[in-house]
Amino acid sequence: MCSPEHFAVEYAINPWMDVTMPVDPELAVKQWDRLRETLVGLGHEVHLLTPEPGLPDMVFAANGAFVVDGTVYGAQFMHEQRAAEAAAHRAFYESQGWRFIAPSETNEGEGDFAYLPEAHGGLILAGHGFRTELPAHAEAQEALARPVVSLRLVDPRFYHLDVALASLDDGNIVYYPGAFSAASQKVLAQLFPDAVVADDGDALAFGLNLVSDGRNVVLNSEASRLAGKLKAAGYTPVPVELAELKKGGGSVKCCVAELRH
Ligand code: ARG
Repeated sequence: MCSPEHFAVEYAINPWMDVTMPVDPELAVKQWDRLRETLVGLGHEVHLLTPEPGLPDMVFAANGAFVVDGTVYGAQFMHEQRAAEAAAHRAFYESQGWRFIAPSETNEGEGDFAYLPEAHGGLILAGHGFRTELPAHAEAQEALARPVVSLRLVDPRFYHLDVALASLDDGNIVYYPGAFSAASQKVLAQLFPDAVVADDGDALAFGLNLVSDGRNVVLNSEASRLAGKLKAAGYTPVPVELAELKKGGGSVKCCVAELRH
């Protein structure tokens, strides 16, 4: 995770960002701290990346890389404004001795990649259409040696995979069908017949942008209907308030890069 000390909305690279809307960085830090404490309270270890001035979106740490079984596939951001974040993530992984593979294709890390270790023997789901480019899916498959299923995102409000789909445990997902092309919806229905399906309201409340440890599902508090569905499916929803970061177009998952040893 990376503190939103320098968080701001200075440019608009997704439909949620409005440069005329005031942002309270102190409140952002407070809310983000609660998220960090929540994860630690659930027994998880949180490493921190040092935020850098001039990189206002650095709090969205999920975009910096994608890690599967100790191998890190680095990010290459779509927009110039975020390009320099990739080096900070790379330095973190290299200093910790992770095997790092530098990308040559545009991709935004866990923003557009999800990993399901128990689904069909270990599957990577990958989004394209807005940020991550299709050739990066093939590159990730070669780097990480897992089959990659390409899914096409069609609604600009859901510009990353992680605002439309999340893993709930090692084998199952929750997703919002409306974010995907009709063909990709068919693919998801075939691969995950038992998935939890979210509605428009859940998705627009950033409910899908969640982090689950297989039991506890940490999600945006505005997504109360989704919390109910997750409870009915046997999970424990843990709501957190992240309204300030929503102004940047992100929520829980965007703030967390998962370290998979
Ligand atoms: N403002 C950031 C951007 O548009 C938000 C990134 C959200 N991160 C995520 N993993 N969906 O790039």
